[in-house]
Amino acid sequence: MSMIEKAKIKAKADRKKIVLPEGDEPRTVKAAAILKAEGLACPVLLGDPEKILAVAKANGADLDGMEIVDPENSPKAAGYAAALYELRKAKGVSEEAAADMVKDPMYYGIMMVKLGDADGLVSGAVHTTGDMLRPALQIIKTKPGMKVVSSSFLMDCPNKELGDDGLLVYADCVVMPNPTAEELAHIAIAAAGTAHDLCGVEVPKVAMLSFSTKGSAKHELVDKVQQATALAHALAPELLLDGELQFDAALVPEIGESKAPGSPVAGHANVLIFPDLQAGNIGYKITQRIGGAECFAVLQGLAKPCNDLSRGCSVEDIVNTVVLTAVQAQAV
Ligand code: ACO
Repeated sequence: MSMIEKAKIKAKADRKKIVLPEGDEPRTVKAAAILKAEGLACPVLLGDPEKILAVAKANGADLDGMEIVDPENSPKAAGYAAALYELRKAKGVSEEAAADMVKDPMYYGIMMVKLGDADGLVSGAVHTTGDMLRPALQIIKTKPGMKVVSSSFLMDCPNKELGDDGLLVYADCVVMPNPTAEELAHIAIAAAGTAHDLCGVEVPKVAMLSFSTKGSAKHELVDKVQQATALAHALAPELLLDGELQFDAALVPEIGESKAPGSPVAGHANVLIFPDLQAGNIGYKITQRIGGAECFAVLQGLAKPCNDLSRGCSVEDIVNTVVLTAVQAQAV
């Protein structure tokens, strides 16, 4: 059974309320109807109800019994504005600005999650990554003990000999352009958590990737990965984590054995930590486009789950992202 099929079974067992701020976007409306009909989550669509229902009719989507909330006319808006003002007044947000901000479905949705009126949020069919990330970072904030928010890409590869039965977790591919060694260590620990808690990988094996294996090259970029490896060991000594490792030394048993003999990870890694966002973002796209992997993205490290879509997403992508968000919400 694939990782996403397993996630769907978990999502159905304890249905979570997931808010969709892009409530009148046709793919989102169709996905919401599927999620409700299949019992995968309780979606909440934000926007003008008349417009949403017209989109549903035009697309043959059944929204019977669906929760639809209009942030412009919601009785909860005043309370959300007051809470938002308290959270952000030190950053220069006035009461008037907070009242305006919660009329924006993105902020309204984030406040629903913050105040427990929804369990998670998914957006990005229309908005950019930054449009959703910024309010999530500002308002939802990081989990206790977690230094940064980052992302994991769950790569379901056709070659089932790789990783955990074909599943590889890549981090970070979306959020942190150039993490410090300390931030990289936190990304590694968070990605191991995602592999275990969300993907059901029993024993995450984390490779800290570089263009060098165990000192084969000397460069300040390699130093950063070595420092991150040492910090991650200190922060999570129980974790099977090793570095620095080249991509092939991390994944191919014979190469791992020859370049990093005795490593508990080399040749068998299932969690791959890229040294920066350029490497991570390019790496996941190569795996997807040339390697033929199916790919699913989640944010990690937020106190409550909010996830981003690509603007080219399909209805199925939205359904899958809501399912993963719902499973993340079960662990909060
Ligand atoms: N973890 C936790 N908090 C963070 C993080 C983080 N990684 N980054 C920023 N913050 C917090 C800041 O502390 C700040 O909080 P405060 O306002 O309470 O003080 C708040 O978020 C805003 O911080 P800024 O530095 O002003 O935010 P910025 O404008 O730099 O935006 C963002 C942050 C959006 C994450 C930025 O780093 C970014 O654009 N990253 C790249 C996103 C991207 O384009 N990815 C690739 C495309 S996606 C794809 O290919 C699938």
